Amino acid sequence: MFRWAVCGLGRISHRWVKVANGIPDMKVIAAVSSSKSRAEDYKKRYEMDYALTYEELAKTPSIVDAVYVATNMSGHQKTVEMFLKAGIPVLCEKSFALNTKQAKSMIDTAKRKNVLLMEAMWCRVLPANRYIDQIMKEKKYGNIISASADFKAGWGHGPKSRVWKKDVGGGSVLDLAVYLVHYSQMLMGKPKRVIVTGKIKNEVDISSDIIFEYNNNVKFDLHSSLQFPWISDTFKIYCEKGNVIIPSFYGANKVIEKPFSGKKIIKKFEKIDGFTYEIAHFAELVRSKKKESYILPLSVTYEVMELLEEINHQLGVTF
Ligand SMILES: NC(=O)c1ccc[n+]([C@@H]2O[C@H](COP(=O)([O-])OP(=O)(O)OC[C@H]3O[C@@H](n4cnc5c(N)ncnc54)[C@H](OP(=O)(O)O)[C@@H]3O)[C@@H](O)[C@H]2O)c1
Repeated sequence: MFRWAVCGLGRISHRWVKVANGIPDMKVIAAVSSSKSRAEDYKKRYEMDYALTYEELAKTPSIVDAVYVATNMSGHQKTVEMFLKAGIPVLCEKSFALNTKQAKSMIDTAKRKNVLLMEAMWCRVLPANRYIDQIMKEKKYGNIISASADFKAGWGHGPKSRVWKKDVGGGSVLDLAVYLVHYSQMLMGKPKRVIVTGKIKNEVDISSDIIFEYNNNVKFDLHSSLQFPWISDTFKIYCEKGNVIIPSFYGANKVIEKPFSGKKIIKKFEKIDGFTYEIAHFAELVRSKKKESYILPLSVTYEVMELLEEINHQLGVTF
C-alpha cells in the first residue's frame, strides 16, 4: 500500500485525495494542515489515520511514503523544504514557487538531501500531451511555425479567493499562464525573446498577453485571464504540413490533427481524471527510488519559473 499525506487542505486537495484514494494499492492516510482542527475534520471526512500539523509530519516521516503539498504558493518553499529535510518525497503543486530564488532553494535542498521532488504539473504527464510532445519531436507535420493559446477562466474564484491576493501568490500568471508556459516549453524550449502586456489590479495581474519568440521567426501568442465569462483553453499549433489543435490542453484527452493533405484525425484518450497520471507517475518514481521525474525534471520546472518571473517582471509584479 502506497501511503500519502496531503498537506494544505484547501479546494484542490479534495479532488486530489478522491483521485489518489481511487488508485489501487494507494491511500491518503494523513491530513496535514496549519490548523489542527481542520486536519481533524478532514481526517474524519476521508477516513484517514492521522491529523497533523506540518511540524508533526516532519517529526514522523516514516508514517508516509510521500506528501502532496497543496498549500498557497507563498507557503511552498517553507513547507516543501521542511519535508525534504525530513526525507519525505514531495509532489508540490503549481506554481512551484513565487520566484526563481525560492525555486532554486527548493531544488538545491532536494539535491542535497537526495530526496525526490516534482512539480505537480499534471498537464505534462497526460497521455494526450505526451503524444503531442512525441509527434512534434518526430516532426510528423514538419517544423512548428507558430502557436496560439488561451487559458482564460473566469469561473470558480469568489471575491475572497487566493488568486486576487498578492501575499499568497495571486494573479493569472502564476495561476493560469503557468500551464501555457509549460506547454510552450515542452514544444520549443526556452524562447529567445519574451514580450508581455497585461492588466493589473491590487498589485496582481488579472490578465496577461504573452509573445514568445524563438529561432527562425517562430512565434507563440499566449493569453491568460482570471476575468472571462466562462473558459477558453485551446492550444493551436501551426506546422509546415498541418495544424494540431488540443482542446482543454491543460487537462487534454483529445487531439485534433489537420494535415494539409489527407483527412482530419481525431485522437481520443482515456476519459479519467487527469490527476491519476501524475499521482501514479510520482508513486512509481518513489517505488523505483528515483530522485527526479524523467517526464518533468527539475531543470524544466526551473526554466518555467525563470519565464514566469520574467513575465511578472514585465508586468511590474514582483514576488
Ligand atoms: N493542479 C491543479 O489543477 C490546481 C488547481 C487549483 C489549485 N492548484 C494549486 O494548489 C494550491 C492550492 O490551491 P487551492 O485552490 O486549493 O487554494 P485554497 O483553497 O485557497 O487553499 C489554500 C490553502 O489555504 C489554507 N487554508 C486556510 N484557511 C482555510 C480554510 N478555512 N479552509 C481551507 N483551507 C484553508 C489551506 O492550508 P492549510 O490547511 O495548511 O491551512 C490551503 O492549502 C496552489 O498552489 C494552486 O496553484 C492546482
